[in-house]
Amino acid sequence: MLPWILPFSYLFSATLFIFAIRGLASPRTAREGNLLGCIGMLVAVVATLYSPQVSDIGLTIGVIIIGGMLGTFIAANVKMTSLPQMVAALNGFGGLAAVLIALAEIINGKTTYLETSLGLIIGAVAFAGSMIAFAKLHGIIPAKAFTFPLQQFINLLLAMSIVALCIMFVISGNHLWFYILAGIAILLGLLTVLPIGGADMPVVISILNSYSGWAAVGIGFSLGNILLIIVGSIVGASGAILSYIMVKAMNRSLTNVLLGGFGSDTPHNNQTTSGDKAAKAGNPLDAAFIMENANNVIIVPGYGMAAAQAQHVLKEMADDLHKLYGVNVKFAIHPVAGRMPGHMNVLLAEANVPYDDVFEMEQINREFAAADVAYVIGANDVTNPLAKTDPSSPIYGMPVLEVEKAKTVFFVKRSLNSGYSGVDNPLFYADNTIMLYGDAKKITEEIVSALEKK
Ligand code: TAP
Repeated sequence: MLPWILPFSYLFSATLFIFAIRGLASPRTAREGNLLGCIGMLVAVVATLYSPQVSDIGLTIGVIIIGGMLGTFIAANVKMTSLPQMVAALNGFGGLAAVLIALAEIINGKTTYLETSLGLIIGAVAFAGSMIAFAKLHGIIPAKAFTFPLQQFINLLLAMSIVALCIMFVISGNHLWFYILAGIAILLGLLTVLPIGGADMPVVISILNSYSGWAAVGIGFSLGNILLIIVGSIVGASGAILSYIMVKAMNRSLTNVLLGGFGSDTPHNNQTTSGDKAAKAGNPLDAAFIMENANNVIIVPGYGMAAAQAQHVLKEMADDLHKLYGVNVKFAIHPVAGRMPGHMNVLLAEANVPYDDVFEMEQINREFAAADVAYVIGANDVTNPLAKTDPSSPIYGMPVLEVEKAKTVFFVKRSLNSGYSGVDNPLFYADNTIMLYGDAKKITEEIVSALEKK
């Protein structure tokens, strides 16, 4: 192969990855972004096969085919609600790949000790941490925060011994230090993620995703591979930015998330009154009647819509209201509704809700006052007014959707239980709120059949 082809192909695929990330920033262009990413990866893989570093092309292709088949099978069968744990597992594999390459480099007698050690340390933390994140999200181990005495102190000791071992290895070149380093970095990854509650896992996964990118950068320097350096930096930087956006939208700090202990795993409140106020329960027939007579309805989806997979029937309800009754229907999306970034946008796009009907919080908040109905389906925290009024609340300062300004607010959920934050929502007891108790999909189906009967 001509000597310029490999770097040129790498540069070309890195450019495609940058455009892919740009495309993925909006639901409108996400599909094109994904396609560009796939093409970029194909170019990178084919170019790498021609690189002189690949000594056994048959074995490499065999491994790619097996891995590709496994990946296709998993991606095709994963449920939308299980995507966070799938991303966690894939991050973990990225970290593991960095660890294995670092080990292979050292065994093969390479001398880029510092870069290889950095790739190993970050990769091992990302691998071990992601496995715990996966296990918590998949229910293999309890999702609750696992804390023990002196936990932060032990983590600090481990981090300091990693620095010491790394220096000792770089100076002496003694492989023993390197293997101990690998073990301690894995232990640190496990112990860092164990104390974090399952509810905080999406942020943790995004941070670990960033780590796996930086691990690839370390390995890229060690292998002298510019593509790994560029792509690792893109993954590292975008993961860090995404983590920052998520914690900001939840009004938290990264330290607050990483030190663990937020979010109750056992939601409280099962009472039907707050003080002297009772929550009013309605039924789908009433809801259909009120909505078909409305001019403006704003739908607010949340985690419960995803859990119930109610997005398709929700689209049907919006279509019926618009086509049969001339109601103006809009969808309001809170930046952290659901459990992963863009969760609601992805589900609504899957149900073919037109992008023009979907509005971000800043755009739609001023419209609630003119809305006849806010149909809050499986959402809770993202509407909680305590975030504006109660400085002692853990969600204080988080921007929320001001659904209470609508004439009537329907909350579709199975109980008065709290959501992710464990904070009760006083809106359930408001005069203009009607609770529609039940599974989000089932309730919405009943509304649709009531709308279509008339
Ligand atoms: P939540 O506040 O978690 O509320 C979801 C509600 O859905 C629950 O109160 C639950 O009530 C209901 N629900 C669950 N399954 C249901 C079903 N099958 N049918 C009907 N209702 C169901 O969700 P949200 O309003 O979307 O807010 C998201 C929260 O997650 C925020 O606190 C956010 O900070 C946090 N978070 C988000 C992200 C990202 S990036 N999106 C990442 C980490 C954390 P019942 O049990 O009564 O049914």
